[in-house]
Amino acid sequence: MKALQEKIVSEGRVLSDTVLKVDSFLNHQIDPNLMKDIGKEFAVRFQNAGVTKIITIESSGIAPATMTGLLLNVPVVFARKRKSLTLSENLYTAKVHSFTKKETNEISISGDFIQQHDVVLIIDDFLANGQAVLGLLEMIEQAGAKLAGVGIVIEKGFQSGGQLIRNRGIRVESLANIASLQNGKVEFMEESYI
Ligand code: G4P
Repeated sequence: MKALQEKIVSEGRVLSDTVLKVDSFLNHQIDPNLMKDIGKEFAVRFQNAGVTKIITIESSGIAPATMTGLLLNVPVVFARKRKSLTLSENLYTAKVHSFTKKETNEISISGDFIQQHDVVLIIDDFLANGQAVLGLLEMIEQAGAKLAGVGIVIEKGFQSGGQLIRNRGIRVESLANIASLQNGKVEFMEESYI
């Protein structure tokens, strides 16, 4: 997705060989017009997948997931990283370890919001080691729901998550796929120029 790649090049900051800072449009301040285009792109890519529900994880997945939900006209559910005061029974849970942040969170979704008849699209902001997506998959399995696929705003193709998920036969669509962050420079994978 060209507009996203241009935004990454113009506003992204390479913090190290593995971390890209995109606080000005995705992880802190949000660019609503870009989110709208991201939602449109995911909606086009998954329009024939029979999606009935979108699932993401708080907090930075919520904006792109909501715009996609708007365009596909389906509800959006976000997995919580902290226990909610009002959410205590009938929960699907999974442990998610972040290699980047070196912490493990137990994420949860109410059983009221994923059902066996659902066809679920997972949307998230980054795909690095794939642990967040694996946690969401575990909860979708607990619910006995079907998976339509995974939509990622920025995949770091040089980390293992993309391969881990695709090796399970799961469709992963990334709108920008980064090949390298070495020497302070963002290089994209060839196919994401299309
Ligand atoms: P994984 O889920 O693919 O295994 O990723 P990992 O544990 O490495 O990432 C954990 C958190 O760090 C996630 O956000 C993820 O989006 C974010 N992250 C990973 N790599 C990068 C990067 O290069 N740049 C930025 N900006 N973020 C990255 P989170 O903890 O869920 O945070 P948030 O959604 O509350 O913002």
